[in-house]
Amino acid sequence: MAVLKIVTLPHPVLKEKTKPVTAFNDAKLNQLISDMAETMYDAPGVGLAANQVGISLSLAVIDVEWKEPLEKKHTKTAPKSYKIFINPEVLEKSGPIEFEEGCLSLPAVTGVTKRYNQVTVKYQDPSGKSHTLKAEGILAVALQHETDHLNGKLYIDHLGPLKRDLVLKRYKKTRR
Ligand code: NI
Repeated sequence: MAVLKIVTLPHPVLKEKTKPVTAFNDAKLNQLISDMAETMYDAPGVGLAANQVGISLSLAVIDVEWKEPLEKKHTKTAPKSYKIFINPEVLEKSGPIEFEEGCLSLPAVTGVTKRYNQVTVKYQDPSGKSHTLKAEGILAVALQHETDHLNGKLYIDHLGPLKRDLVLKRYKKTRR
C-alpha cells in the first residue's frame, strides 16, 4: 500500500478523457485500487479518480460513508468500505439539486454546482463483471463528480463563467 501524489489543476491529465480499463483480475489493477483508496483516506476525501493520481484509466474509488472525512485524519483503523467503479457511465439522472462541491485536485476551494439527486450508473468491478447501481444523495453526487473526472471534466466546468472565475481566483490565491 502506498499514498500516491494527487495532481492538481492545471495538470493536463485532469482535462483528458481517460482510457477504458481492459485488464481485469489483474495484480497491477488491484494494487492501483488499494493505493488509490489509501490516498483518498489520507487526503482526506470521499472520492478519487485515477487521473487525479496521474493515471489515465477509467477507474474511481468512492467512500461517502466515511464519517466526518474532513475532520478525521487517516489511521490504520479507518473503515475501508470503499466502492470501486471501473469504466463507469451515468445512464440516467433525475431530481435537480444544488450541491457545494470541493475537489482534491483544487484544494481549499468549493463551488455550488447543479447536480442530480438520483443517478443510475453502469460500471464494472475488478473482475470485469458489469453492475448497475441506482444511487441517491451524496453518493449520487460523488458518482457524477468522479465520472466527470474520468471524462476530463471538473466541477468548475458546471459553473457559469463568473462563478468559475471566482473559484479559480480564490484557488490561485491559495497557491501563491
Ligand atoms: Ni474531484
